[in-house]
Amino acid sequence: MSDQGKNVKSEPATTRSDSENTEVGSVFVSNYPPYSFWNTEAVPDAMGILDSSASLGAQLGLYLHIPFCRKRCKFCYFRVYTDKNSSEIEVYLDALAREVEIYSTMPAINGRPLSFVYFGGGTPSYISAKHLKALVDRLKKAIPWDGADEIAFECEPGTLTQTKLEAIREIGVTRLSLGVENLNDDILAENGRAHLSKEVYRVMPWIEALDFDQVNIDLIAGMVGETWESWRATVQQTIELNPDSITIYQMELPFNATYSQDILGGKALPVANWKTKREWHNYAFEQFELAGFANSSAYTMVKRGKPRRFVYRDAVWQGSDMMGTGVASFSHMSGAHYQNATGWKDYIGSLKADRLPLSRAFLTTPSERLTREMILQLKLGRIDTAYYREKFNVDILEEFGSTYKKLQDEGMLILDVDSVELTRKGLLQVDGLLPEFYAPKYRNARYT
Ligand SMILES: C[S@@+](CC[C@H](N)C(=O)[O-])C[C@H]1O[C@@H](n2cnc3c(N)ncnc32)[C@H](O)[C@@H]1O
Ligand code: SF4
Repeated sequence: MSDQGKNVKSEPATTRSDSENTEVGSVFVSNYPPYSFWNTEAVPDAMGILDSSASLGAQLGLYLHIPFCRKRCKFCYFRVYTDKNSSEIEVYLDALAREVEIYSTMPAINGRPLSFVYFGGGTPSYISAKHLKALVDRLKKAIPWDGADEIAFECEPGTLTQTKLEAIREIGVTRLSLGVENLNDDILAENGRAHLSKEVYRVMPWIEALDFDQVNIDLIAGMVGETWESWRATVQQTIELNPDSITIYQMELPFNATYSQDILGGKALPVANWKTKREWHNYAFEQFELAGFANSSAYTMVKRGKPRRFVYRDAVWQGSDMMGTGVASFSHMSGAHYQNATGWKDYIGSLKADRLPLSRAFLTTPSERLTREMILQLKLGRIDTAYYREKFNVDILEEFGSTYKKLQDEGMLILDVDSVELTRKGLLQVDGLLPEFYAPKYRNARYT
């Protein structure tokens, strides 16, 4: 999950929630300061940064939001469209390519090599091989990416054919991520997924034959209808599918998801509580460990012997520059956060007028950049003080000492002389802990 292109309806604070039940609202922390503090007034300042060649970010990446899906999953909160026809998709892809072309001429971008490209969604694998190839040809003319360390691509299993997978391989994809979520058909259907397990089994041999550097499978612990029995089966069957990495999210009910609206409308929904979801997540960690995987973050486990790094994730969490293109996408450039227009018309309209579609922005202070990198990298499970001393000239053990101490007393982390390491207990609920590090003015505020 890249958390890009997220919808923007208001949600309450993500300050530490000790609630037992899975309530409506998201806990997942993807950025700092909270999105609700970004505003239109800061957009000219963000544009000023794009017009300057002095960059803070070491690496440069490109995120492309492909907002189309066959069906809207009932738990999903991303900006997606299920009703666009082929010519509308062409209009969108044309705007996306135009956006990258505009970026390529800007002083902050011009001449810099791309370290990574991420096709996220929505469902990038929804678009046809023909559309994909045409898009990539145009993008590569604007910004070459042959030297990039990683080209990542999200897929929904039921949208893949052998020919489309060949096209995905041909454009240079190195990391293919498959939204499997669960392998029980009743659960998939109940949660509104467009695919069933047979589609996963159909595509895996094609994927294997194409020899991508890394094949990842996404799972969600706690989908509606999940039981211990069904979860155990999904975990074991996932091991048999033999991916290189497995990413497990705990089911959230963000405000704009269909399920959340059902609950707010008074409908009772059997969603596991947080304690059960953590137990399921922990069971998956244990089983994947036995099968030869090791944690590379609070969510992802990688097969031993395979590279642990995930260039996109690591770059974003280290404050690298990233052009987030597409409707509702988020960018970070030289210390400035900003988000694109969240509506189809506004997004397409801006690009038709040859304007970048920025809608809100936030210029971070050095202290906010430190907090951001500290909390996001804590999701890796361990951070070293040396990194922050070198980059920010700050001793994090002093800066965040009292909060670390409190969390250590609660059994969430272990403090050492030169590192902070989460315990398993802390790792399983890391997103709930991070708001404790927020500056006071950002606590008890809306997150998005
Ligand atoms: C953009 S989707 C991946 C590609 C494709 N759209 C698909 O779903 O197969 C990103 C991932 O976010 C996760 N996700 C989406 N909504 C979620 C929620 N409400 N709670 C937890 N995880 C969620 C799912 O694991 C999903 O695979
Ligand atoms: S397929 Fe993926 S992006 Fe599309 S609605 Fe489902 S979870 Fe969301």
